[in-house]
Amino acid sequence: MKVDLLISGGTVIDETGERRVDVGVSGNQVVAVGDGLSGDRVIDASGCLVTPGFVDLHTHLRQPGKEEAETIESGSRAAALGGYTAVLAMPNTTPAVDSAAVVREVLELGRSAPCDVHTSGAITVGRGGEQLAPMSEMAKLGVRLFTDDGTGVQDDRLMRRAMEYAVGLGVLLAQHCEVSALSEGTCMHEGEVSARLGLPGQPSEAEELMVMRDIALARLTGARVHFQHMSTAGSIAMIAAAKAGGLPVTAEAAPHHFTLTDERCAGYDATFKVHPPLRTSSDVEAVRSGLADGVIDAIATDHAPHPPEEKEMPFDKAPPGMLGLEYALALAFTNLVDAGSAMTESDVIAALSWKPARIAGLVDHGQAIAPGAPANLTVIDPSERWTIDASGGASRSRNVPYVGMEVRGRVTDTILFGEAVVTDGKAQR
Ligand code: DOR
Repeated sequence: MKVDLLISGGTVIDETGERRVDVGVSGNQVVAVGDGLSGDRVIDASGCLVTPGFVDLHTHLRQPGKEEAETIESGSRAAALGGYTAVLAMPNTTPAVDSAAVVREVLELGRSAPCDVHTSGAITVGRGGEQLAPMSEMAKLGVRLFTDDGTGVQDDRLMRRAMEYAVGLGVLLAQHCEVSALSEGTCMHEGEVSARLGLPGQPSEAEELMVMRDIALARLTGARVHFQHMSTAGSIAMIAAAKAGGLPVTAEAAPHHFTLTDERCAGYDATFKVHPPLRTSSDVEAVRSGLADGVIDAIATDHAPHPPEEKEMPFDKAPPGMLGLEYALALAFTNLVDAGSAMTESDVIAALSWKPARIAGLVDHGQAIAPGAPANLTVIDPSERWTIDASGGASRSRNVPYVGMEVRGRVTDTILFGEAVVTDGKAQR
């Protein structure tokens, strides 16, 4: 059989398992899997893994409003280079994604991007935490996940109402868990390191109290709740207990929270400032085991671009956030597989692809690689070792906290609905 694009010689990993087969793509679909295929174009995937495209549940694309940091186009290119075929944009733009008009604008700008751009919607108007946003008009445009990301919804009653409303609409609420009464005025994790540096710290409890409350409200309302960028051992223990008790909760963790500790803040370099903050080595261990045992469902980047002049400000003044899209896979192979957290490469791919696709309700991504599936695919060279260097990235920003780290695993090709948007590690558009 002759196909448009043949991916030959690779090991396919998807949710049905792992096998050595060739993959044939024609138009925007996988049309054949097996031997005896020939292609107009051939990707030699010998020694490589062929997987469903990755899905990022947590991307800050900054448009509208902060185009000097990132645009939908530049962020999508960084995503494609990182192996992502879909991203879910966060709503903390200017204006916030809290109305049908802004949802339309983001989706429209995303149409020509080298990645399938979806957006979340804000839970409250302007992410102000006071009044529910018109979730139903956003849901009609396809928004399936709502969050005030950047801040958590502080008001218990409003959060309860949001959950009741979400149950009716059949959408997912996601929470940035941070109790502002404990986090205001802080810039890192509260502990030995913050005491030594003389920087105001926020305790783990700032996150954990909101996780605890939202688990209680999920029980009360029956809502599905997704916990964003989980960073403390205590949060993960509560989510494990909630899941064991049958609650429909899910969770994600960011690469920086399974890679870096608060010790990295010791040079007062704001590249290491992030919300929730980098925590202790026992928290990092808890995030790694949470991913390994499935309590944490997904790896989500929290890709948060900021221009150099802002990140060069003093630690307590600089904005929080770090880049992630182009490094997540390699950080996961290096720190979750090679560092012995009991995860296999397939487990990592699950946490990057079909598990987040399912959480976000994205049916075109994360599907098993079989005839009829949308051709959203990633090819990975698992043996490539490289040193992270911020200068070559596609993001408009350079706030990469991993510079100089030696990592394993690189995305060589990304196929978006049948189109090769990344070839040999280079963006094609
Ligand atoms: O560090 C962070 N940066 N955490 C957030 O929740 C928001 C993000 C941003 O938008 O910069």
